[in-house]
Amino acid sequence: MDELFGVQQDESTLLLRLVDELVISLVNTRVYSSSHTRVQWSTMEASRLLGELLGFDDTAGLRLPVVRECFVHDGHPLVDASLASSRLIKSIHDHKGGGLHLDRAATQADFQMFFEELTRKAGAQESAEAFNQRLQERGCRTVRLLAPMEEDALRRQDARVEEQLVLHGIPLALPLYQALVDHLQGLTIQATQGRKLGFESTQGAVDKLLEQLAKDSKSLLGMARYELYDAFTFGHSIRVCLLALNFARTLTDDLDLLNRIGTAALLHDLGKVRVSFETLYSRERLTEEQRREMERHPVYGAEILLDNGDTDPLAIAVAFGHHHTVDMRGYPKVLHRARGAVVPRIVKICDVFEALTAPRPYKAAMPAVRAYRIMLSMRNHFDPLLLRRFIAVTGFYPTGTMVALSNGVQGKVDAQTHDPRRPVVEIRTTEGGEALAPNDRRLLDLAHCDPAIRVLASLGEATIQGAH
Ligand SMILES: [Fe+2]
Ligand SMILES: [Fe+2]
Repeated sequence: MDELFGVQQDESTLLLRLVDELVISLVNTRVYSSSHTRVQWSTMEASRLLGELLGFDDTAGLRLPVVRECFVHDGHPLVDASLASSRLIKSIHDHKGGGLHLDRAATQADFQMFFEELTRKAGAQESAEAFNQRLQERGCRTVRLLAPMEEDALRRQDARVEEQLVLHGIPLALPLYQALVDHLQGLTIQATQGRKLGFESTQGAVDKLLEQLAKDSKSLLGMARYELYDAFTFGHSIRVCLLALNFARTLTDDLDLLNRIGTAALLHDLGKVRVSFETLYSRERLTEEQRREMERHPVYGAEILLDNGDTDPLAIAVAFGHHHTVDMRGYPKVLHRARGAVVPRIVKICDVFEALTAPRPYKAAMPAVRAYRIMLSMRNHFDPLLLRRFIAVTGFYPTGTMVALSNGVQGKVDAQTHDPRRPVVEIRTTEGGEALAPNDRRLLDLAHCDPAIRVLASLGEATIQGAH
């Protein structure tokens, strides 16, 4: 165990951070060149994390086979580490690999060579063996692709992963989330390289989110709380998009408008691609100059979208206006004091709520109730009617949150009711804290049950491992 910014670094957190760093290395190798400092930093960090994870006496190395688009470690699917990894997984598949094998001794230079090879186009004769051979010829023997699994083993593993995903309640939400991250990564690469942005698939992805929200909001909203580390802020954008959609669908049932709102929310921070890495990921207090640079991201976002030609004006308005207060203060500075449009105000509420409640490497997640209290105390920041409505829709215990009830059981919030304090909860443990099998779980509507039963607290993911 090691302590980083107050967060415990156990094995699963280290694995998550390692996979995240590999994804960053891959995306940066695509965007820049492999010798760019950003690639060097992330590959150096990957090498360091691997060392920390394996310890000094590990000789077997780390095996991460891919099963059902999910990295697996010791037979367990790494769901959270796989959420943002579809690009890495796809590149492994493109080179006919079945996963990754990392030796403890892998250096920064080894990772750099690996990503140079991985970002090359695979030839028709490609195989994991040929890929590894090329790496060895270059002097890299510590990072390699695993050969694809035999069919029998794959089928067995596949069934196991499926079982785990069902147990987590996210068999459908995972690919949806992965597709969105992949899409945002693609847009980031295009925007960084000044290429035309391909929005064709954005609408399709947002439509699928809307469909899934209508069918089963719990798994989607619950999963939006998974990601601990989020180097590219994609997780933030997806969560803001989900919150905005979940809120907006109570205000309108115009599917076309909902899609436009979802797309605008998804792209609200696109301008951050033009903010320097040092400013964006600074863990120190920003200098005055860095703060000014950071505050330009709404202008950059609007510029990128405007330059693109046929972008929806709503997305431009949201990118430009999501840091404005209701009286048009905030940034960027504007001369007119006309009342801002509704959609940027919706996105602003979701943006601040997400930022307050999401866990970050340097802070634990804040309970929704505390976030509401802070937001209600921020005078003139939010549209008061919209904010009150948002609180009613999102609830004190947002859908997908794990909660402890006063009768000793734990469960996952399934839906909201007319009373934001008393949601419908899917009971997942006995009173003794023992996890219930998926078939034994039942719903308890707190708005229509014994009033003595109430929510005591929302729980962090780590405390309820057994209850998933
Ligand atoms: Fe922003
Ligand atoms: Fe944001």
